[in-house]
Amino acid sequence: MCGIVGYVGTKKASPILINGLKRLEYRGYDSAGISTIEKDGISLMKDMGRVKNLENISGINDLEGTIGIAHTRWATHGKPSKENSHPHMDNSKKFSVVHNGIIENYESLREDLKSKGYTFYSDTDTENIPNLIHYYYTKYENEKGIERFLKSVRSACLDLKGSFAIEVICSDFPDNMIVVRKDSPLVIGKAEGENYLSSDIPAILSFTRTFYLLDDYEFAILSKDDVKFYDKDLNPVNKEVKSIEWDAVGADKNGYEDYMLKEIYEQATSTRETVGTRFQGPKTAFEELDFTKEYLSSLTRIYIVACGTAMHAGLAGKTVIEKLSKIPTEVDVASEFRYRDPLVDEKTLCIFLTQSGETADTIAALKLSKEKGAKTLAISNVIGSSITREADLSIYTHAGPEIAVASTKAYTSQVVLMNVLAIYMSEVLENNDQKYLDSLKEEILELPEKVEETLKISESLKDFARQVYQEKDVFYLGRGVDHAIATEGCLKLKEISYIHSESYAGGELKHGTIALIEKGITVIGVLTDKNLVKKSISNLQEVITRGAKTLIITNQKDLDTKAFDVVVTIPESNTFISPVLAVIPLQLFAYYVAKEKGLDVDKPRNLAKSVTVE
Ligand code: F6R
Repeated sequence: MCGIVGYVGTKKASPILINGLKRLEYRGYDSAGISTIEKDGISLMKDMGRVKNLENISGINDLEGTIGIAHTRWATHGKPSKENSHPHMDNSKKFSVVHNGIIENYESLREDLKSKGYTFYSDTDTENIPNLIHYYYTKYENEKGIERFLKSVRSACLDLKGSFAIEVICSDFPDNMIVVRKDSPLVIGKAEGENYLSSDIPAILSFTRTFYLLDDYEFAILSKDDVKFYDKDLNPVNKEVKSIEWDAVGADKNGYEDYMLKEIYEQATSTRETVGTRFQGPKTAFEELDFTKEYLSSLTRIYIVACGTAMHAGLAGKTVIEKLSKIPTEVDVASEFRYRDPLVDEKTLCIFLTQSGETADTIAALKLSKEKGAKTLAISNVIGSSITREADLSIYTHAGPEIAVASTKAYTSQVVLMNVLAIYMSEVLENNDQKYLDSLKEEILELPEKVEETLKISESLKDFARQVYQEKDVFYLGRGVDHAIATEGCLKLKEISYIHSESYAGGELKHGTIALIEKGITVIGVLTDKNLVKKSISNLQEVITRGAKTLIITNQKDLDTKAFDVVVTIPESNTFISPVLAVIPLQLFAYYVAKEKGLDVDKPRNLAKSVTVE
């Protein structure tokens, strides 16, 4: 995901900015750039690729400016390119801006600005911002001093819909920078005679350990000796400075003990980023895809092919894709698919799910499908990854870099993206009532808040983890999509806690597995599909009768839960997106168990983040 750095002080800004960008490299990015205020106006240097490329731009070492902004970009609107990389300037070259987040109304803003005579050179949503600021700056020409700059930034921000963390410099105010945020992180680091800015504390931790944390719609004017804060209505705000005790390694995790925990807690943001602006118009936007009604109607089958957690996301995605497209959909393990001579031809659409985009079996399965004449669609989290270079079509989850080996936010983003894709396909096919599809969109847009709520509720599982962590076996049960969720929860426990666990479709229990159930054994039930809840409860009764202790994850408010030992009630949702919410308690449960055992959750034994060999 994009990274932001800023500096106002007495030293040369450019080396500090570049150093900060390097500290943000772990987030993943495709281009980088900086702007400083020089004697003759604002300088702008940017390039595609690594920060190294930026460092090698001729003249960068000659920059003298002591105030500057910098950015690493993870492409959302517009492909990775020099033009699309940040900073972006307005037409008059008076303002330079870096931005993290997504401007949802960027198309209408752009049209409006065009009608006022502004021109655009990039495909980004960000380029609207400096031009909007300029537009208001000309309107406020009677305002005096920095007030004019501040009011212009504020008015521009009030026009923006979506999420943003923004840094702005203006050639008329060579000693100041204005910053603001909404739903995207931004911290100000305070030091003696200088101030720093970043989207992530690690980038500036080597310079200061005292920070101001900006709230939504808070504006700050930075100079070398001072930071002034204002609320949304530009009333001055007194802000407390916070001291941070983190060491450099801890801070990279943004205060979380482990990357896995950080990534679990990032899921409200990551799922929001996955949807992005796709639901902005009356029809779902997938300009990367060339599906026509004729093509989709010609399909006899869809395969979703993946490995591990991505395959589990595929199981959850199958439900929504099959139900909405009405095309038979199968999920396959890539390592099996590639060797079983699958029935694939030009009437088959093959979807390959992979966080890394580098998984050898998934890439091999894609190549095979292509040879057999199918259209191939890669769903990856990493822009430019190997699979996206092989596939006919690619779309991205935009979950941000996932560093912990155990996949969490990539899974939820994959499930969300398959929901969005299924709705898009149905709109192209015109085979469902649009009102129904719009109601599904609404539910997806409400997900981030429900994710936040679920995270809070799930913290109660710490106690249950303490009861379970020394056990040898744990069983997971569910039916339909709940079985898919249980299977992902089960894998999480296995891989980071090393406890043997098995996931079963509830109805399969009495065909053998029930022989293993005895007094004290832990059974975890997932109950979110209201059509199957009663059936699953019967299965859970069977294990309770044999002495099992039970934890259930449910979104059914009026369920009689007396028989269960621990009940986690998550927010209600339709069964297509319930995996996103129901998996969260299971992720946290696995995490708490592994921590109780004192294990390294980020790097479990024998596992690698991306499996590039067969
Ligand atoms: C489990 C996990 C793995 C991956 C699998 C596929 O937590 O992370 O099971 O899901 O190795 O990886 P990608 O998605 O990179 O193809």
